[in-house]
Amino acid sequence: MRSLAKSNKHFERAVNKLPLGVSSNFRYWGEDKTIYVDHGKGGRVWDIDGNEYIDYRLAYGPIILGYADERVDAAAKRGMDVGGVFALSTELEYQVAKRISKMVPAAELVRFSNSGTEAVMAALRVARAYTGKDGHIVLEGGYHGVFTEVMWHSELEEWDEEGDPELQPFGDGVPEVTRDLCYPVPLNDANLVEDLLRRYHKHIGAFLIEPIMGNCCGITAEPQYLHDIRELCDRYNVVLIVDEVKTGFRVAKGGVQELFDFKADLCTFAKAIGNGYPISIVAGREDIMRHIGDGVVHGGTFTGHSVSLAAADKTLEILDETDALEAIRNYGLRLQEGLGEILSERDIAHSFTGAPALMGLFFADSAPSNYREWVDSNYEFYDALAPELHNQGILVEPDSREPWFLCEAHTDGCLDDTLRRFERAVDITIEKLE
Ligand SMILES: Cc1ncc(COP(=O)(O)O)c(C=O)c1O
Repeated sequence: MRSLAKSNKHFERAVNKLPLGVSSNFRYWGEDKTIYVDHGKGGRVWDIDGNEYIDYRLAYGPIILGYADERVDAAAKRGMDVGGVFALSTELEYQVAKRISKMVPAAELVRFSNSGTEAVMAALRVARAYTGKDGHIVLEGGYHGVFTEVMWHSELEEWDEEGDPELQPFGDGVPEVTRDLCYPVPLNDANLVEDLLRRYHKHIGAFLIEPIMGNCCGITAEPQYLHDIRELCDRYNVVLIVDEVKTGFRVAKGGVQELFDFKADLCTFAKAIGNGYPISIVAGREDIMRHIGDGVVHGGTFTGHSVSLAAADKTLEILDETDALEAIRNYGLRLQEGLGEILSERDIAHSFTGAPALMGLFFADSAPSNYREWVDSNYEFYDALAPELHNQGILVEPDSREPWFLCEAHTDGCLDDTLRRFERAVDITIEKLE
């Protein structure tokens, strides 16, 4: 039986100094469930009690090659020798920007920041400057970071399926005045977007979208929908911002835009760029991006840090020039096949969403096409399964809306262990629910 005795003891200490005993609310899993990590290597992490886990959370996406990847860490060490930050620029910024433009054609110009939040915040600001319109469309179930304008979400857990779900602030301290900036729509209904734009196009300057919803089970846009909203954005002078913070350099070399063969006006990237080193990007069409420096302020003390840039340069080189993403994809397909067999043998309805590198596991016969349909899946089974997976040594998010993330290092001996542990956890869950 897994013991968290040391983690629990550490929690008692940490909570005296850190709210919830952690540095992000999402890392708090309860007083006796919060895990403190000792170290990670490859596709696995070890907690301070010595428990070993195959990790399918991967820090919510940054780890694309594996923890403590020696190729990236060696590059990062060379980045340390450069000196960090200078309130001046280094040549490496241009080199990494060129690499990004090569991999993502929509990224004509590039600016660096440190977190996904900062990148999306910058993208929205640039879009507002370009269009002169303050409002933005967001998807129900979408998540774009922790800055005020996007901290509104459609409440589905108490939704009675009549009318539209209520828009609620994502926690306290979100100014009420920012509610009116948000125009939520369910994914995959272009008619609703058209109606909305017909009525409010004078107020709406941006459509912020994750075509594979990285915070909502990997629910995926249909190609026709993407085509339609591209056309609607052009027609109504709306900047199409594709938030690739999770999908970028993960689901394909050119992200979700390559996968679905369409082009953003602006796009944001973060997680996988540096295999865990903090770096993010706002990028896009030259005529829009040129507003930065010509009216729009963008910057920050730590932007263009030499360690993160060096790590990003190496990570992107590996992703661009090796078959790492193909290997992840193949692993993901084999994983889905194995998980699927275990579930089918037990007559448990299931389906997979997203891309293999960022996949949702759904307990329903068919995958949902928007967040509203998530309520029809047996997410209670997921909620019961997740803690058993943790006990067996598989890390997934306790919340079924967070997809599973895969990395190159998983291909190194994680599959059989995962399937064995998963099977055990499923059987315990079935018994528990009987
Ligand atoms: C799609 C998307 N955008 C933005 C963010 C915010 O990124 P960060 O947590 O690095 O600020 C996230 C974080 O999970 C995300 O998934």
